[in-house]
Amino acid sequence: MDHFKYKNGTYFCEDISIEDIVSRFHTPCYVYSESTLEAHCKRFLTAFSKYPSTLCSFAVKANNNLSILKKIFSLGFGADVVSIGEIKKAILAGVDAEKIVFSGASKTKQEIDEAIQLGIRQFNVESDFELAYIAGVASMHKKDVAVSFRVNPNIDAHTHPKITTGLAGSKFGIDEPDVYKLASEYKDHPYLKIQGISCHIGSQMKDLSPIRDTAKRMVGLYQDLKSQGVPLSSIDLGGGVGILYKDEKVFSLEEYADCIIEELKDSGATLILEPGRVIVGNSGILVAQVVGIKQKRDRSFVMLDAGMNDLVRPAMYGSYHKIVPVAEPICSCGHTGDCNCDPGCKCGCNKNTYSFAGPICESSDIFASDIPFSDLKAEDLVAIRGAGAYGMSMASNYNSRPLVAEIMVYKDQIKLIRKRQSLEEMIKDEKECL
Ligand code: LLP
Repeated sequence: MDHFKYKNGTYFCEDISIEDIVSRFHTPCYVYSESTLEAHCKRFLTAFSKYPSTLCSFAVKANNNLSILKKIFSLGFGADVVSIGEIKKAILAGVDAEKIVFSGASKTKQEIDEAIQLGIRQFNVESDFELAYIAGVASMHKKDVAVSFRVNPNIDAHTHPKITTGLAGSKFGIDEPDVYKLASEYKDHPYLKIQGISCHIGSQMKDLSPIRDTAKRMVGLYQDLKSQGVPLSSIDLGGGVGILYKDEKVFSLEEYADCIIEELKDSGATLILEPGRVIVGNSGILVAQVVGIKQKRDRSFVMLDAGMNDLVRPAMYGSYHKIVPVAEPICSCGHTGDCNCDPGCKCGCNKNTYSFAGPICESSDIFASDIPFSDLKAEDLVAIRGAGAYGMSMASNYNSRPLVAEIMVYKDQIKLIRKRQSLEEMIKDEKECL
C-alpha cells in the first residue's frame, strides 16, 4: 500500500503532483509520503499489539533522515542503531535512549563509551572482545550495563547472499556454543547485565519458514540459558521483512506477527524487533529526469540525471525497482497509468524496450535493463519506486555529485526534509585543507 498514484494524467504523492515538487526542488530528489510511512508504522505496531511486551526498534540504517526518524519515533518506535552517529541522530530525532538497541559487528571502544554515557537500553554484543570491553567499562564506572548476545543461529534466510547474515560462516553474531561459554563466564558479573539474546538472519525475507525456525531456536536457547541461571528477559528477533518491489509473494505483516507470537507466547520474554525496510521502503520514490535517449546498436538507453551514487541498490545487489513515467501513458486498450499489457497486446503503450542508466562512470550504473516502457524523450520525468529504504541512506558523493534533496509530502503539504547539498558544501572540508 502506498500513496503514489496517477491523478489527472500525472503522478502524485498524496495530493501533490510530482511535477509541482520538481518545479520547486528540481531533480534528482527523493519524495516520501508521510501517510504511507505512518500507515506502515501503525500496521506493524498493531500486528504485534497482541503480544504482552514488545519494543519495535526502527533500523535507522534503512533511512536516517531526521524528519523521517522523528515521525517514526513519535508513533512509539525505538531505534536499532549500528554506530554512534546513528545513536546521536536518533536522540536528536526524539527517541528515548531507553529504547535504543546498539547492534553492529565492530563497535569501537569510543562508540561503546559514548553509548554507555548516553544510557542506551542494551548492546547487542557480537564478539567476546566486545563483551570483555563492556564488562571492563561497567566495572570501572561501577555502573550496570545491559547486554544481549547477538546469536548466529546458522539458519539460511533464503534471500540475496549479500544481505544474508545468519549463516555460520558470516562475520555476524556469536555461534551458539560460544554464547553458552560467555554466558557462564559473565552471568555473575556485578555490573554486566545479560538481559537478552538477539539475532538478525537477513533482509528482504519472503519466506516465513526461516523466521519460524529462528524464533523456535531462540526460545529454546532462551529457556536453556535461563535454566542455567542467566537472568534473561528479552528476545530480539531483528528485522528482515520483505516488501513488494515487483510481483514477489511476501507474507503479510499479520502473518509474520502471528508466526512469531505463536513461538514466543509461553516464553515470558519481552520481544524486540528491528524492522527497517518494511517501515520505509514503499514510502519513498527517487524522481529523475531524462537527459536524453541514446540509441546504441539494438538498445535504447534512457540516460537519467540520477545515478548509482543516489540509489545504489540495483548496481550493488541487482535489485529491481519499478520505474514509472511521471506523465501518465494513455493506453488505447483502455488501461491507464501503470499499464501491464500482455506481451502480444497491440495497444502500443509499452512499445519501447528501454534500459535506464545514470551518469556514473561504471557499467553497473543501470537501474533497469531492457524493460518495456511507454515513449520517453529528453526532460521527461520518471519515478523509481520502492526507494525509501537503503536509498538515500546509502547515497554517496561518488563522481563528485552532491547529495540530493529529500521532500516529504503529507496530504497537500510539502516539506523539504533535506536541502540539496551544494557543490561548495561538498568540497568545503577539502578546500579548507588546501
Ligand atoms: N537489524 C540488524 C541487526 C540489521 O543488520 C538490519 C539490516 C536490520 C535490523 C533491518 O533489516 P530490514 O528490516 O531492513 O530488512 N542495504 C541492503 C540491506 C542491508 C540490511 C542490513 N541490515 C539493501 O538495500 O537491501
